[in-house]
Amino acid sequence: MARAVCTIVWTFCVILVSATLAQAGIGVNWGSQTSHPLHPSIVAGMLKDNGITKIKLFDADPWTVSAFAGTGIEVMVGIANNQLKDLSDSYGNAKDWVKHNVSKHIRDGGVDIRYVGVGNEPFLTGFNGTYVKTTFPALKNIQKALDEAGYGDKIKATIPLNADVYESRSNNPSDGNFRKDMRELMLQIVRFLHDNKSPFLVNIYPFLSLYDNSNFPVDFAFFDGGSKPIQDKNVQYTNVFDANFDTLVWTLKKNKFEDLKIIVGEVGWPTDGDKNANTKLAKRFYNGFLKKMANKKGTPLRPGPMEVYLFGLLDEDMKNVAPGAFERHWGIFQYDGKPKFSIDFSGQGHEKMPTAAKGVQYMDSQWCVLKKDIKNMTETAPEVDYACSNSDCTSLGYGSSCNNLDVRGNVSYAFNMYFQMQDQSVEACDFNGLAEIVKQNASRGGCMFPIMIMSVGNRVGLAYGVSIFAGLLLINLVAIV
Ligand SMILES: *[C@@H]1O[C@H](CO)[C@@H](O)[C@H](O)[C@H]1NC(C)=O
Ligand SMILES: *[C@@H]1O[C@H](CO)[C@@H](O)[C@H](O)[C@H]1NC(C)=O
Ligand SMILES: *[C@@H]1O[C@H](CO)[C@@H](O)[C@H](O)[C@H]1NC(C)=O
Ligand SMILES: *[C@@H]1O[C@H](CO)[C@@H](O)[C@H](O)[C@H]1NC(C)=O
Ligand SMILES: *[C@@H]1O[C@H](CO)[C@@H](O)[C@H](O)[C@H]1NC(C)=O
Repeated sequence: MARAVCTIVWTFCVILVSATLAQAGIGVNWGSQTSHPLHPSIVAGMLKDNGITKIKLFDADPWTVSAFAGTGIEVMVGIANNQLKDLSDSYGNAKDWVKHNVSKHIRDGGVDIRYVGVGNEPFLTGFNGTYVKTTFPALKNIQKALDEAGYGDKIKATIPLNADVYESRSNNPSDGNFRKDMRELMLQIVRFLHDNKSPFLVNIYPFLSLYDNSNFPVDFAFFDGGSKPIQDKNVQYTNVFDANFDTLVWTLKKNKFEDLKIIVGEVGWPTDGDKNANTKLAKRFYNGFLKKMANKKGTPLRPGPMEVYLFGLLDEDMKNVAPGAFERHWGIFQYDGKPKFSIDFSGQGHEKMPTAAKGVQYMDSQWCVLKKDIKNMTETAPEVDYACSNSDCTSLGYGSSCNNLDVRGNVSYAFNMYFQMQDQSVEACDFNGLAEIVKQNASRGGCMFPIMIMSVGNRVGLAYGVSIFAGLLLINLVAIV
């Protein structure tokens, strides 16, 4: 009967099926390095509203994880790098971790946990080898604890890795192999993942190819062609994402793990904080990428559907900016869950704004700005320094959305960011008598002076451990072309 209906209304059936499958692979990262996090239940709602079915977290904060109970959203929980040592030192610690951060959620009412991400890009050269000894033992302990608790078939432990664990001697994916200093360890890890039917999790960033190399051909970072392809044996590469991914495929193949499942743990484009970070290019990147996902094109060496997690859901105003000011602007949505540009997660290429977060509460509509009668700008310099080093001024830099403000605008921007991140406390808008609170919207041109949201868990002042150095490094492959 169903078949008959499908034959009659064939087109309709095709649309239905393809829309469902297209979305099956799309997940998103939700980072927590933010002064005013959205309520996890609001986030769960916005994922559902936008047809996003998977979420990747960087920790296992119980309150966050439990918000996904009964939502049908698949969850990857994370373990921070600074916890790796404890988990590597003792199997008992790993057992405790699984008991509190996995078993509890499954018993208490159904969080659909699928993966545990052990560490976050722990082998980045920027970490100077700090986590090289502890990561693999921690991975083994966590998987063993999952197995012992009876979840081994459904929940897999893996390591979210930066693409710099492999490299290519030349421009060609076929010259790929593991980074020399990591080679032996990576082979052990890959064997372990293979034996446990766990995936290889890799973060791939075309934006950083462009950011790190001014000679990089811009079009090669996107999916709509226009740049000179790389010819590798009988395969042509028209974008760096495919070339990077297939460098990994070659690496695995050379080491006899050709069939290992690969998941892209992070991929995305930032919208501010650099000349190439804006909504126009982010839109171009996601549009091409999501269409590619929907068409299940895969890469030349791995055609077919792919499991991917976009990076990221929301801007994070406390992220480490050592790699670049863009680090705080990876969100597809603003800090408050409002969309920045049109994006069609189903990959059908429709021009439409995604659905904003619902139920977000804002603080009062008031801004902190430089007093009109202040003329001596020298006086403001130390105050601006203070404001910026304790808030987020990454939109002021060269090529960013607020770079065209005049001197007074700059000062006001800094004052306001500090004031908002301090929950609009009256004392936070003094600056030695130079500042005042106003009711008139201080935003101008393309530069938004935000109003902070009411936060459920105000995290200002919390220590976050070591943060991601994602921008520092890059596989050699992308540097040439
Ligand atoms: C569970 O995860 C949280 C957050 O990541 C962590 O702080 C805590 O130590 C973990 N619990 C155990 C028992 O290890
Ligand atoms: C790594 O070493 C360099 C140079 O010795 C140092 O500047 C940097 O802070 C170190 N990074 C970490 C994460 O320890
Ligand atoms: C401006 O402020 C600086 C620093 O407070 C001070 O040294 C300088 O004398 C002031 N200039 C004028 C014209 O008041
Ligand atoms: C405003 O601040 C930014 C960042 O510090 C700087 O690049 C820019 O030149 C400043 N603009 C003016 C007019 O001082
Ligand atoms: C202030 O103005 C900006 C830009 O015009 C706008 O996007 C923003 O929503 C306004 N803020 C408030 C609280 O009205």
